[in-house]
Amino acid sequence: MIDLIKKLPKAELHLHIEGSLEPELMFRLAKKNKIDIPYNDIEDVRKAYDFSNLQTFLDIYYAGAKVLVTKDDFYDLTWEYILKCVEENIVHTEIFFDPQTHTERGVPFTAVITGIKEALADAKEKYGITSCVIMCFLRHLSQEDAFVTLEEAMPFKEDIIGVGLDSSELGNPPSKFKEVFKKAKEAGFKLVAHAGEEADYSYIYEALDLLNIDRIDHGVQSINSPELMTRLKNEQMPLTVCPNSNIELRVFDTYKDHNIKELLDYGLNISVNSDDPAYFKGYVNQNFINLCENLPITEDDIVTLVKNSFRASFIDDELKEKYLAQVDLALQ
Ligand code: HPA
Ligand code: ZN
Repeated sequence: MIDLIKKLPKAELHLHIEGSLEPELMFRLAKKNKIDIPYNDIEDVRKAYDFSNLQTFLDIYYAGAKVLVTKDDFYDLTWEYILKCVEENIVHTEIFFDPQTHTERGVPFTAVITGIKEALADAKEKYGITSCVIMCFLRHLSQEDAFVTLEEAMPFKEDIIGVGLDSSELGNPPSKFKEVFKKAKEAGFKLVAHAGEEADYSYIYEALDLLNIDRIDHGVQSINSPELMTRLKNEQMPLTVCPNSNIELRVFDTYKDHNIKELLDYGLNISVNSDDPAYFKGYVNQNFINLCENLPITEDDIVTLVKNSFRASFIDDELKEKYLAQVDLALQ
């Protein structure tokens, strides 16, 4: 099973690039940029990565992101993730970034997007890895702030395929961002949103009906509404599920309690993703392995999950078919 997971080419659709900041790089950049971090050594960091919910994680994640200052820092961050993609056999990736986390500190939007894009261009040239970039609005900030960020993104429209919504979910429902998502859609962006991670399934309905999203991030709370489950199945609306994240943030108590197998068996379009791999103990393959070790996941399930990662991606149909054929080839 582990061999199968490793050998299949995969796409990743739910990855916060700031969440791929490994402690080693965090220390190196903190020193270079003379930024204080509240850790003495790597062991200290690992100890701090013990979360009780989404917010306790976000506090640490935003503190870590402060070491990212220059365009080169964003290049190095992205390049280290690309090297993981090579190890993991991830051939296509759709990367989230949180511009407001950086522009709030005075880092120019241009530095962030340019560093990321240059690394992704090198990834294509050196390894053939394809990618898209999705800009997330921080939902704990206002819709007005999100409008400002959308304006800043306009000159980079060619580099950014879509917009998303992340950060503190409870108390910040999708409805808060209805107008800015409408504007983003009119501007031609794809739309995604974190919904039904910690908050109940009403947030998923809002994301579908008020934001008109193309894909749901997490969405695991949909299991509590039979009507929503039917709808998601009929529409084949993709859910980018992140098992390690859900365990680390206590959405489920243990891997054995995770509902991904039920969602998949019901016929939903589910993929497996790493979310914030530097914080949640592993990249995509480790997420698959943890599922296989704890749930009655079959080899057919793995193939379906992997194929869904391409089906739910924002690449064109021709490239999709090419990648799906590569999965079939790897299976022979
Ligand atoms: N949820 C919300 N916001 C986030 C996450 C997440 O899992 N990871 C990084 N920002
Ligand atoms: Zn996420």
